[in-house]
Amino acid sequence: MFNKSIDNIKVFKVCDYAEMSNLAAEILISEVKNNPNIVLGLATGGTPEGMYKKIVEDHKLNNTSFEGVTSFNLDEYVGLTGDNETSYRHYMDEHLFNHVNINKENTFVPFGVSEDLSQGCLDYEATMKELGPINLQILGIGGNGHIGFNEPGTSFESITHVIDLDQSTIEANARYFNSIDDVPKKAVTMGISTIMRSEKIILLASGASKLDAVTKLLKGEISEDMPASVLRKHPNVIVIVDEEACPEL
Ligand code: GLP
Repeated sequence: MFNKSIDNIKVFKVCDYAEMSNLAAEILISEVKNNPNIVLGLATGGTPEGMYKKIVEDHKLNNTSFEGVTSFNLDEYVGLTGDNETSYRHYMDEHLFNHVNINKENTFVPFGVSEDLSQGCLDYEATMKELGPINLQILGIGGNGHIGFNEPGTSFESITHVIDLDQSTIEANARYFNSIDDVPKKAVTMGISTIMRSEKIILLASGASKLDAVTKLLKGEISEDMPASVLRKHPNVIVIVDEEACPEL
């Protein structure tokens, strides 16, 4: 493993997806052990699947307890209820919550179906303020540089809001749906300023499809056109990136 700091970001360059997943799981597990009442910010997508698998394995082997843990997820598709297999609530249940001793009442995922989505966003912010701050936030990164579902152009001041998904995001996520027409066109996402309130952030990136986004994140301009670049203004960020996704440092 190779590491280097870029601005405030500690970059850990690892060989591959497995090493990225192991390191992320190790850090998260050690934070949970240090603070059994930790508030976690959690991400979905293909990237953190391996990390969740490791956390579940560790829970079975070593009994690391999630009893006192609270979690907030980054985002949810508009129009999908939690029992829909392609919803992020369902993803979290399947990949983590059903396999560790977390109290489901303490796991929060934005609601994608509600009579008033805007009010739902404000309520999500209020719950985070009441139970937070988020001590450790896990992030993936979109090929276009999005974090959560904050697409390029989203204000750095944004809080939880409804967003129109970019066509590239719809295409990238179509693999989880029967057809591209089934991919929701909108999502509810924590905003950029919501994410920046987290005390510590770990961003994971793996594979050649993320190389361009990681290059801009670490070496490009800090700009709302590149949402992840905001992380260079945060005091405590770790980026764990595998060889294929990592630019020359
Ligand atoms: C998804 C999620 C993001 C995720 C990103 C990358 O659409 N909303 O939170 O980080 O896009 O996804 P993947 O890990 O599948 O490449």
